[in-house]
Amino acid sequence: MNKKALIVAGVMSGTSADGINVAVVRIGEKKIGRAGSNFRMHQPKLPLHRIELLGHAEYPYPSKVRTAVLAAMNAERARVADLARLNFLLGELYAEAVLATQTRLKITADLVGCHGQTLYHQGEAIFFLGRKIAATWQTGEAAVVAARLGVPVVSDFRPADMAAGGKGAPLVLFLDYIFFRDPRVGRIIQNIGGIANLTAIPARARPTDVLAFDSGPGNMVIDALSEALFGKAYDRDGKIAASGAILEPQLRKFLEAKFFRQSPPKTAGREEFGREFVREFLRRCARARKQDILATATALTARSIADAMRRFVLPKSTAHNTYREMILSGGGARNATLVRMLRGSLLPLRLRLRLTDEFGLPAEAKEAVAFALLAYETWNRRASNLTSGTGAQHPAFLGKISYA
Ligand SMILES: Nc1ncnc2c1ncn2[C@@H]1O[C@H](COP(=O)(O)OP(=O)(O)O)[C@@H](O)[C@H]1O
Ligand SMILES: [Mg+2]
Repeated sequence: MNKKALIVAGVMSGTSADGINVAVVRIGEKKIGRAGSNFRMHQPKLPLHRIELLGHAEYPYPSKVRTAVLAAMNAERARVADLARLNFLLGELYAEAVLATQTRLKITADLVGCHGQTLYHQGEAIFFLGRKIAATWQTGEAAVVAARLGVPVVSDFRPADMAAGGKGAPLVLFLDYIFFRDPRVGRIIQNIGGIANLTAIPARARPTDVLAFDSGPGNMVIDALSEALFGKAYDRDGKIAASGAILEPQLRKFLEAKFFRQSPPKTAGREEFGREFVREFLRRCARARKQDILATATALTARSIADAMRRFVLPKSTAHNTYREMILSGGGARNATLVRMLRGSLLPLRLRLRLTDEFGLPAEAKEAVAFALLAYETWNRRASNLTSGTGAQHPAFLGKISYA
């Protein structure tokens, strides 16, 4: 088994369909733990990883590609020939993104972990043609990536967990657990992508102690309203929302949605907070000032995260574990208004807001680093789904390998 340190490129594109994040990481293992920011102690059964971020970059999708990706997620409109073509096109774009990053960093990856673009995810089994079936679909042809880069590519991470009875998500849990668990402080690792998802890690947690679920919308509603009202793909730095006032009665109504009251585990997607939700949002805010509508959408993300803490996470505090920190990642961490609102909502809960950047993981790179790590685990023939989070019956080797 190959245990020497590897240079691994992680490639991520999330539900925002904003583009491609690439992180290049050196990953190795140590038998004995050593102090230092890049060394993270493990459970005895897990190896002791050394994870060092060498660099990262972000490549927005060209606007025609973004439109095609969003159309591909729309079951009513997608055409099968276009889906097949999109798979190969994204393979080319992922390869180009890695090549560009390698050139910039003057480094070459030994291995790639490529998440792909999720077109459809249904983690819970439902009846389909007489059988109970769960399904997921990530596109972006790994054979193309492997051919262009000349190194093996691990892709398609979610199906193995689902074949083991899991929801296929969240998989980032593995990195969260390895990187952020702490002997003294309970931490909530909160990612704000299109959807907002979190991992709650009690102090001194074993892998089975982590709690992970989606709290609700992340940037998805903000982005959609920004596009609809201002013709902008997103509210850069939260400037527009900062100029508006929160519509409190409407916000309270939105926060009563069934999803927010549902107990975890739960996952959200465009099904919950996509087109339909945004249409309803606009209907209820009719006649309000445009910037107030955006401020309200931003507050919805911040408050629904705080509500999720109050309802589902903080009650799990014990004598040995108090949650004291929320550590933020994802594109939403760059929305200053959202961060300000979130910090305010967490204050009464005695949660301090920090960024993953403080731990050497830039907010926009964290998920790409996670898939580099998962690729490394699979390459070393180790299972890396944390079954307490995904609900799988047994550990599973995540992903498929395309050899160059
Ligand atoms: N400077 C910024 N100001 C405001 N919002 C930002 C900024 N940078 C990124 N974002 C938000 O983050 C989103 C992308 O976040 P990301 O973590 O890539 O999500 P996903 O994983 O769903 O692709 C963008 O659509 C945008 O809403
Ligand atoms: Mg993204």
